[in-house]
Amino acid sequence: MDLRLLLAAPTEAERAAVDAFLGEMTASHNGAGPARDVDGRAVHGGHDVRDQRHLLLPALEHVQARIGWISEGALGYISERLTVPPADAYGVASFYGLLSLEPLPPRVLHVCDDIVCQCRGANELIDALEQEIGPEGTDAGGSTWLRSPCLGQCDRAPAALLIEAGACPRELAMAPTRDGDAVAALRGEQVKVVAEPPVPEQDGAGSWLVRRVSVVDPRSLHDYRARGGYDSLRRAMALGPQKVIREVKESGLMGRGGAAFPTGVKWEAVAQQPAQPHYLICNADESEPGTFKDRVLLEGDPYSVIEAMTIAAYATNCAHGYIYLRGEYPLALEILEEAIATARLHGYLGEDILRSRFSFDIEIRRGAGAYICGEETAIFNSIEGFRGEPRSKPPFPVERGLFGMPTVVNNAETLVNVLEILRVGGREFARTGTEKSTGTRLFCLSGHVARPGVYEAPFGQTLGELLARAGGVPDGRALQAVLLGGAAGGFVRADELDMPLTFEDVRAAGATLGSGVVVAFDETVDLRRMVQRIAAFMRDESCGQCTPCRVGTVRQEEALARLVSGQTRGSVGDELALLDELAVCMRDSSICGLGQTAASALSSAISRLGLFKEEVS
Ligand SMILES: Cc1cc2nc3c(=O)[nH]c(=O)nc-3n(C[C@H](O)[C@H](O)[C@H](O)COP(=O)(O)O)c2cc1C
Ligand code: SF4
Ligand code: FES
Repeated sequence: MDLRLLLAAPTEAERAAVDAFLGEMTASHNGAGPARDVDGRAVHGGHDVRDQRHLLLPALEHVQARIGWISEGALGYISERLTVPPADAYGVASFYGLLSLEPLPPRVLHVCDDIVCQCRGANELIDALEQEIGPEGTDAGGSTWLRSPCLGQCDRAPAALLIEAGACPRELAMAPTRDGDAVAALRGEQVKVVAEPPVPEQDGAGSWLVRRVSVVDPRSLHDYRARGGYDSLRRAMALGPQKVIREVKESGLMGRGGAAFPTGVKWEAVAQQPAQPHYLICNADESEPGTFKDRVLLEGDPYSVIEAMTIAAYATNCAHGYIYLRGEYPLALEILEEAIATARLHGYLGEDILRSRFSFDIEIRRGAGAYICGEETAIFNSIEGFRGEPRSKPPFPVERGLFGMPTVVNNAETLVNVLEILRVGGREFARTGTEKSTGTRLFCLSGHVARPGVYEAPFGQTLGELLARAGGVPDGRALQAVLLGGAAGGFVRADELDMPLTFEDVRAAGATLGSGVVVAFDETVDLRRMVQRIAAFMRDESCGQCTPCRVGTVRQEEALARLVSGQTRGSVGDELALLDELAVCMRDSSICGLGQTAASALSSAISRLGLFKEEVS
């Protein structure tokens, strides 16, 4: 593509949108009023302007939200204001699924066609849209619809996300979406979305992490405090940072974001780093298909995440924290923004928190539709204003993370566990679960279960017990398979339901708990379509930085398509051998977890479920 940002001027509306976010240009002595060189490939400005590169993604999001897309004129103006070379800014803007560099109508309905929604009516919804509106991308008088990967609303499938650009942008998660509602929303009519409670068993019994969800008003600090809120922070401050870390280490808490790293060890490593400042990131990107637990926590109990972040920051000596929030979670954004402002107003964030002389504040950064940005080092690049590509490790984030400084990255669920650890003490916490998997875990149950939602279970409960809590497979149908751990996880058979859900048992069985995904597929599901959707997701979400993943995910999808269509190159066995070779190559030589697990679900479907075994014999 030939970029002509130098020639393209922003419209008045685009210029106003950028200035509204970045402020009017000020005098050039502080670096404002940057100049582009004559061929437009480089821009020059002072330190102050260059230091603002981290505003690149929010500035792009701001224009996208107000104008509906990012024209060359708008991109050129942003790159000029932030002194980012135009090609560099283009690289960032083109990285994210929710940013459009092509004209789009102001109203866009993103319709999930991912695995869970396919099981719960997405195909019928899409058929209805095709008939009523036209094919994906049709401009129907100021609105259009587009297919989307998982929107993190799998408990309420089929899901869609309505985004309306304009002076007062509007976003609405529509889940569940009925055919008529989708068409009505595209016509600009008001729709009312009625969803089941996200925690179906909310009696509070035995739950630590979600006990306040749907019980307290998430917008009320008073409610939060009335139910034990901020007791744990007070206890942490009474103990002091080192003892807090000791409690977390004694609790045996392992990260819930997928990698299962011991949280106390991570905190200690950051606390001991002499370089300053330290940063804290709450990873709420949650883009693994089938995952929605962090959304439920953030929407239902935002202060718990804020309090837990404050404790983590206190223990590791961080003055500044970020919540990296999935771009497709508008309600969580609204609730969190309000909660952060209220916490600040009441002295729970900001300077001298609870008169302890400890200062800490939180900033929200929104993702923009990139699964890879949940990888911890990709988050750093995303926040810093670069393409969200993972960095090679070492150096590890605890030494050199965000802006090159020691950084704690923790999943939202991991952090909320710390409240319970401080409430009961690390040793007592460790009495729940098993020796190597302590505490409780949030599981996201979706697909063919009677009561989808978030279920909290002590580690060690079996897969069968968990499915039974969700009412099992509805309508008397038989269970065919379960996807455990998400798209980066694997399938297990219906005769493996006695598997205890612990890190060690699941690993021993050759599976993974990943981000707590449990998708049930009944006997009617065509699992070939499901693995094809997962393969397409991996290909689409690969950041393209390293060859094994960039090329491997494409070749994997192609070989799978040939197998499904019956038009194999050579025998079925040859194609399966090729898939196996690709899986080994991606696993062993990709830079990050995406490439390393891009074949996991497909490999497990072939080896564990015997997909394609009929063709082989
Ligand atoms: C492709 C990819 C996507 C990821 N997405 C997330 C995510 O959305 N949320 C998350 O907490 N961790 C995610 N992770 C794991 C993070 O890299 C990191 O391990 C985690 O945030 C650390 O927090 P924890 O120790 O509390 O689990 C992802 C990893 C990979 C490879
Ligand atoms: S493994 Fe894939 S997603 Fe990860 S860095 Fe390589 S290309 Fe990017
Ligand atoms: S919201 Fe559709 S699969 Fe998750």
